[in-house]
Amino acid sequence: MRLSRYFLPVLKENPAEAQIVSHRLMLRAGMIKQASAGIYSWLPMGFKVLRKLENIVHEEQARAGHMAMLMPTIQSADLWRESGRYDAYGAEMLRIKDRHDRDMLFTPTAEELITDIFRAHVGSYKDLPLTMYQIQWKFRDEVRPRFGVMRGREFFMKDGYNFDLTKEDALHAYNRHLVSYLRTYERMGLQAIPMRADSGPIGGDDTHEFLVLADTGESEVFYDSAVTDIRLGERDIDYNDKDQCRAVMEEFTALYARTDETHNELKFNEIPEERRRSARGIEVGQIFYFGTKYSEPLGATVQGPDGKPVPVHMGSHGIGVSRLVGAIIEASHDEKGIIWPEGVTPYHAGIVNLKQGDAEADAACESLYNALQALGLEALYDDRNERAGGKFATMDLIGLPWRITVGPRGLKNGVVELTSRRSGESEELPPEQAVEKIAKIYAGHRVSGL
Ligand SMILES: Nc1ncnc2c1ncn2[C@@H]1O[C@H](COP(=O)(O)OP(=O)(O)O)[C@@H](O)[C@H]1O
Ligand SMILES: [Mg+2]
Repeated sequence: MRLSRYFLPVLKENPAEAQIVSHRLMLRAGMIKQASAGIYSWLPMGFKVLRKLENIVHEEQARAGHMAMLMPTIQSADLWRESGRYDAYGAEMLRIKDRHDRDMLFTPTAEELITDIFRAHVGSYKDLPLTMYQIQWKFRDEVRPRFGVMRGREFFMKDGYNFDLTKEDALHAYNRHLVSYLRTYERMGLQAIPMRADSGPIGGDDTHEFLVLADTGESEVFYDSAVTDIRLGERDIDYNDKDQCRAVMEEFTALYARTDETHNELKFNEIPEERRRSARGIEVGQIFYFGTKYSEPLGATVQGPDGKPVPVHMGSHGIGVSRLVGAIIEASHDEKGIIWPEGVTPYHAGIVNLKQGDAEADAACESLYNALQALGLEALYDDRNERAGGKFATMDLIGLPWRITVGPRGLKNGVVELTSRRSGESEELPPEQAVEKIAKIYAGHRVSGL
């Protein structure tokens, strides 16, 4: 992509309405534009990041054996009356009437609809286990939409649902989700800590929220500092192996880590004092096991091995995909702008031409651009007729992790400059070596799709 052709409406001034850094930087870097309160348009740069996160979620769900599907955003109220949530959900649910005066709603979540699909088509325990998920827009008419995409009214969410014959199988599904979520967040360059949480309107006994520690987070959290030392890393996970998934779950949840809703002072005080932490966090996902809470009222049963109908054990599992864009920026930025982790960056590298119109510099930039493209790497080439300072400021603001700077002086010596956005360190090297180095850096960070 050439910056001269790109739609990147960068803002020079800090927008007054933005209270937190991620909101400010997303507006300034031309990623989003507010359409109305808590509702945003995703401009090309923002949309590219959103797509990358979506693709990472898809890849990790596929790895865990979960099937992607898609359900409608507009749903009939009837099913929600059956589950009893039409009234229970309250003012957060956006209610709509169609031309025939039928009650409809914009989906805030989809337990009812997926359960309806299940009960229509699944009759035998032999069809279990089954886990399906979607990544779809949700709407919740939040009282106080704020912080940009962090607490929107319309937001993009992965929601997954498991159907199992027994509680034991459903708990395996729970653990499988926990592991796949850990992997997902780590690929996004984030540490998200599973914390025991409260189940809220979804209901159920077992639930963990995943929290990214950040001062601007809306959740109050309490934890043993030792949990921040645990990483999933590159371990080989067999998602069908119940013991292995349970062991990972136990490893990540054994130490004290809770949100304020489930916080217990007595238990907290058992942690050695120097490891006790209270902080703030951003909730980027949540998993639930809720047994037969929906399958019983909605009649989602299967014929068990003994021929008798039994209600299935279920769980639901969400990732806040659009919120994650903000959460990543909260966790990774400096005073100049965003610093994208390699796994989610909208472009792999930026190319800055210090002397646009200089035949040699132009040709070197083109050839770098093509060499990266040939390796499947996307560059954003700043080919505008601007001062170097302005070009650097834009690159720093939008936060591409690697920048190649090309100028006539360097080219005389056969070198370009490769700069890390994170460390600010630069090195001079021949263009081919810069390309090689970038390719090596991204070898472990490939995301399929756009
Ligand atoms: N208003 C919102 N704006 C952006 N993301 C949201 C919003 N509400 C929920 N999410 C994201 O969706 C994930 C799953 O939603 P859920 O746990 O059902 O929401 P909540 O905890 O708000 O009841 C949350 O962990 C969060 O990351
Ligand atoms: Mg939640």
